[in-house]
Amino acid sequence: MHLIAPSLLSANFLNLEKDIDMVNRSQADWFHLDVMDGVFVPNISFGLPVIENIRKAARKPFDVHLMIIEPDRYVERFRKAGADIISIHSEACIHLHRSVCLIKSTGAKAGIVLNPHSPVSLLTDIINDADMVLLMSVNPGFGGQKFIENTYRKVRELKELILKKNSKASIEIDGGVDLKNGPLLVKEGADILVAGNTVFASPDPEETISLLKNF
Ligand code: DX5
Ligand code: ZN
Repeated sequence: MHLIAPSLLSANFLNLEKDIDMVNRSQADWFHLDVMDGVFVPNISFGLPVIENIRKAARKPFDVHLMIIEPDRYVERFRKAGADIISIHSEACIHLHRSVCLIKSTGAKAGIVLNPHSPVSLLTDIINDADMVLLMSVNPGFGGQKFIENTYRKVRELKELILKKNSKASIEIDGGVDLKNGPLLVKEGADILVAGNTVFASPDPEETISLLKNF
């Protein structure tokens, strides 16, 4: 069964607790938390103090997506702030293997993120070290963007690589996921779907999560 990770980037920042409670009550599996530094991506979201406080109200694992340069400098602190899974962009890491090992040394699970332009073949020699691979299906930086169709092929390719290499990595998709492309992505091999706008802009977010979970 696939997992659902609502992205709080699209939640109401004026009343986060209300949206956190909704996710707690819902059939969602994880909280997806998008950290942006204004350098790696053209937007700034939230950071450590906000995540520390969300942790006090949230009752599900934290899937922290770091859209920042030099993530090694902050891995330990995000772990302490409550991250269960820490994902870093291959495009932001010069020594990706070292960064993945660093994440795992804190006890967190390590995710590797690929931007839409980065080929799956980049992962050949690191797929056995990753707990998760996050395929971006939009260019990172903003919620509510249009899903890039090439992602289906990438999921298929990634699934093949994982099977070929006997890797335990799970596949997460992030960006423009909705009720139409969600089932197709899971069919191709996706294990976790992130959804921001689809959940929080819907009239009944809790019901939308249940629809995403139960197709
Ligand atoms: C984009 C973020 C996503 C974003 C997804 O940079 O990584 O997690 O919140 O939002 P939607 O589902 O609205 O595309
Ligand atoms: Zn994300």
